[in-house]
Amino acid sequence: MENDWDIAMDSLSKITVYSNSNNEPVTITGDADDLKCIGVGTDAAVFQSLNAPTFAFKKYAKDKIAKVKVEANVYQVLGNSHFFSTCFASYDEYLVLSYEEGKTLFDCVLQGIHIPEKVIHDVEDAREYVRKKGLNPRDIHLKNILLQNGGAKILDVSEYILPGNDFRWEHLKKGYEQYYHLIDGNSVPFWLVETIRKWYNQRNKYSSSYEEFIKSIENFLYKK
Ligand SMILES: Nc1ncnc2c1ncn2[C@@H]1O[C@H](COP(=O)(O)OP(=O)(O)O)[C@@H](O)[C@H]1O
Ligand SMILES: [Mg+2]
Repeated sequence: MENDWDIAMDSLSKITVYSNSNNEPVTITGDADDLKCIGVGTDAAVFQSLNAPTFAFKKYAKDKIAKVKVEANVYQVLGNSHFFSTCFASYDEYLVLSYEEGKTLFDCVLQGIHIPEKVIHDVEDAREYVRKKGLNPRDIHLKNILLQNGGAKILDVSEYILPGNDFRWEHLKKGYEQYYHLIDGNSVPFWLVETIRKWYNQRNKYSSSYEEFIKSIENFLYKK
């Protein structure tokens, strides 16, 4: 049977995605006239085809392809929800998802685009929905949330089968409530966002709690 996205499959096969160490984003080689890279993560690169623009093709790095089936399965369990993309199909190396409009919250912070409170509430509701489906809402961070029509769309559900709380969302929410007014409407420089991101990812080395982490940022980067 023909699918609307088949037209992109040849092009997708011309692209190779490589993972990198230290949790750095993947890199891509190859070329295809009709494919546009619309985002990268640590496991995969995501493409849109000019010939089938309603889809997003999430192509995993070779050493991460076990996650394709995992993420497809999570999407199946999640079922239909406006909080998430739709997963139409999965192949050996990629998923066929609905293309979702909007900027990631990461880009919103960089570009000074206002993030309304509704985004926070949407993510809370989405997490509740995930739990009701028997899954664990993990890995919810600035690059995995899109600002879409004033609300949130959550990407990247591959970790929802893992146990444990990574507290990423709880920390972001607290940070939003306590500090967002300081940056609202201003673009935050890339070096600053990256520095804070890297400190956060290594926080267990230097500080044990959210409060200590915030304190070290205030000490070095922000003077009242
Ligand atoms: N369905 C989608 N529609 C539009 N952009 C997407 C979609 N899925 C992912 N992206 C973009 O691609 C990036 C990487 O996708 P993601 O699923 O988070 O990969 P990884 O699992 O490697 O982190 C996202 O941060 C986002 O910018
Ligand atoms: Mg991601």
